[in-house]
Parts: sequence; structure tokens; C-alpha cells
Amino acid sequence: MIDIHTHILPGIDDGAADWDYSIKLARAAAAEGITGIVATPHHYDGKYSNDANTVRELTTELNNKLTELDIPLKIQTGQEIRVHSEFLSNWQSGKLLPMGDSSYVLIEMPSSQIPKSMEQIVYELRLLGVSTVIAHPERNAEVVQNPDRLAELVELGAYAQVTTHSLLGGFGRGIEKASWTLCRRGLIHIVASDAHHLEWRGFRMKDAYERVEAELGPAWRRYFERNAQAIWDGRDLTDQPTLIQQTAKAAGWGKIKALFGK
Ligand SMILES: [Fe+2]
Repeated sequence: MIDIHTHILPGIDDGAADWDYSIKLARAAAAEGITGIVATPHHYDGKYSNDANTVRELTTELNNKLTELDIPLKIQTGQEIRVHSEFLSNWQSGKLLPMGDSSYVLIEMPSSQIPKSMEQIVYELRLLGVSTVIAHPERNAEVVQNPDRLAELVELGAYAQVTTHSLLGGFGRGIEKASWTLCRRGLIHIVASDAHHLEWRGFRMKDAYERVEAELGPAWRRYFERNAQAIWDGRDLTDQPTLIQQTAKAAGWGKIKALFGK
């Protein structure tokens, strides 16, 4: 299992406080069957600023410790970057990190609304060959109120990541409901933990995938698992199960029309 959104690096945001805690999180992840984690500390969120070099150095150090301790887990670099006015210029000058060596970048919107610049960022990044992954849209009030706003961003080329705790009700019934609504509308592409600490914001990837399988069926579980792996490997995401069904339906209708010569 791959987890593309975590706060496992020590002492740089509201995630792991120190090295001991990072290792504790790593052990918990490995015990759950997670084999790869993208470290995505907060960046540009008004409180935390974690430049690319800091993230690279800490990730190398953490990987070395995991090897020394024989913990079967690999870490890749990343950032959870808050939308900000210089986003595109910072990206173009190499100040912002994608997830691992991929062309996917994890972007966080404020919880109250969708910033006006969001559409332009998604579109311009797309032109640069970079895909936006929107972190936990189910926790954005404007998206919850009007999922069509997220659909517009997806239409422009954005992907969306739902958080395991949201799916499992950890942020309350409202966010849980919104999460499943977005999933059922095909607006969610990746499941990740956004793990900060073990007490109440751990990984719960296995629980969330089991719930996905129960609610949406095994094809959706495989779809989410494959997409997380695709980001880890720097490959394209896969087609959604419903889209495949729709295509099959469309193909079937085409055959019927051909039979009747219309
Ligand atoms: Fe996060």
C-alpha cells in the first residue's frame, strides 16, 4: 500500500514532533501494510514554511534510519502546498516539490472556500505537464455545499484526494457524508491518510480501503490502490470503474443503433 499524504517528517509542522515520533509513525505504517509514504509537510499555509531542501534532507535522513532499523518502508519527498499568489512563479523557479519524482503536486485549499486562482493554477500546471492533486476537498465548505465546483476543477485536469479519517467518520458525520457523495460522483481519485500522529490522526488506510470495498465494491478499492501506486511510480492514473461501465454502456448502445441502421 502507498500513502501519498502524510506529516511524518519530524519537528517541521503539526505532524511528528521529533525523530522518535517519526519512527513510531513509520512502524505503525509498516505494521498496517504500507510500503511507501510520500512526506508532505505543510508549506505556505501561513503557519509553516518547509522549503524543498529541508524536505529533501529530512527525507534522506529518515530513509537512512528506516534502513538501519530494518523497517520495511520507503519515503519520498513532497509538500502539501497551500494555494498562494506566487504559486506558479514559485513552481517554475523550482521552489516547490512534486510528489516523489512524479509530475503530481499536492495542493491544499483553505477550508472555507475555493480560491479564485485555483482554476488558473490547475490549468497552467496542466500546460506544464503537471497534475494538481487537491488535498481533502471533502473538508472544503464550498465543495461540500456545491460539488459541481470540484467537478469544474476535475474537468480542467485536477485530481482529488480524500482522507481516510473523513471516509471513516473521524471528522464528523457531515464530512463523512460529503466524502462518500464525492466518491459516488466520481470526483475522488486517491485515498490517503494525511496522518499527523497516532492518537487520533493515524493512517487507517486498511480500514478505509475495506470500507470503500464495502460501500463501492472491489473495483473501486483496486482503482484507488492503483492510483496511489501510479503516483508513487510517476505514471498516469487509471480509468474510473464507473467510466469503464459508462463506456461499455455507450458501446452497447452504439451496437444497438448500428443493428437498426440508425
Ligand atoms: Fe495534510
